[in-house]
Amino acid sequence: MAQMHAAVVTSFDEPPHYQQFEAPQPSGDDETLVDVLAVGLHPRVRTGAAGKHYTSTGKLPMIPGIDAVGRRPDGTRIYFVADDHAAGTMADKALVDVRRAIELPDGVDVAKVAAAMNPAMSAWVALRRRVPLQPGQSVLVLGATGNAGRMAVQVAKRLGAATVVGAGRDAKRLAALTSAGADELVALTDDDEATGRALGAAAAEVDIVIDYLWGKPTERAIMALLTARSDRSRALDWIQIGAIAGPTIELPSVALRSANLRLQGNGQGAVSTEAYLAELPSLVDEIDAGTIAVRPNPVPLADVEEAWSRPDAPGTRTVLVP
Ligand SMILES: NC(=O)c1ccc[n+]([C@@H]2O[C@H](COP(=O)([O-])OP(=O)(O)OC[C@H]3O[C@@H](n4cnc5c(N)ncnc54)[C@H](OP(=O)(O)O)[C@@H]3O)[C@@H](O)[C@H]2O)c1
Repeated sequence: MAQMHAAVVTSFDEPPHYQQFEAPQPSGDDETLVDVLAVGLHPRVRTGAAGKHYTSTGKLPMIPGIDAVGRRPDGTRIYFVADDHAAGTMADKALVDVRRAIELPDGVDVAKVAAAMNPAMSAWVALRRRVPLQPGQSVLVLGATGNAGRMAVQVAKRLGAATVVGAGRDAKRLAALTSAGADELVALTDDDEATGRALGAAAAEVDIVIDYLWGKPTERAIMALLTARSDRSRALDWIQIGAIAGPTIELPSVALRSANLRLQGNGQGAVSTEAYLAELPSLVDEIDAGTIAVRPNPVPLADVEEAWSRPDAPGTRTVLVP
């Protein structure tokens, strides 16, 4: 059996180790083996490697990595999303289901694509497929200070939002959102009342909320917006995307009876693979043009263990390079 180098998780309590692993073998017409060129170390990858994602099977050893840029045997470069049931992408080689891959244009920076696609596609797909944004609408990004949140601000603006409100807890990162296109900023602080008032003042009239937080901040934000909204029968589309602040919320039934609040999520399962794939080429163009951006921080795959425990600097994403 052919061997390759890979990041290998042998215990959910430890970072992956760089070691030899059996190279996967393609089977059927839809599978091909590619050389991996760059892999993003996204929060979702960390959750999976800790056995805590909703798709986790609990089986070990496992190779983490949910997407990557790779080179096909014919030399073309592709961006692909790994099959949930296949080995991950943090390896010299990875199996690709050709139905989950798109070809990349010549000259596109592979590290930029590997860093940006996952955080960018959350808002891009949400605002194109879940609740198609109508030009002139307004958007609140709840939890806007992370990579996905900052890009959600850029995506909303790019897709024609008239007003984008960014809300987050880190004052410095929040202030930096103005340069990403945010029209208004709301600091999420420990003072619930002041935060509720600020959210109500800045975002009561938004059409869409892109929510990366969930948990307590979302509970508070829903009530703050509905209480301050001038016409509660006007639709408020709340798109759940991340759960950084907590896995559940308590939602008073009155929130659903007294307002036109429409709750839905965006992620694997909520949108079909075909629909995701159809959106990716235009997103690559935006990333290539720099309109939707995160700075890649390339690190050799051999250093995965060390990279794992190093948090990304603001606005950057670690990209492992085999
Ligand atoms: N469904 C999808 O398709 C999809 C796709 C991509 C990402 N996601 C999810 O979206 C989330 C964000 O991803 P990311 O790539 O942006 O991660 P990231 O770059 O690591 O950013 C996370 C941000 O969350 C902030 N944060 C953490 N706890 C918070 C809290 N209690 N209140 C307010 N802010 C808080 C942090 O800000 P501080 O500076 O304040 O610590 C940090 O800036 C993750 O949960 C990820 O899994 C979902």
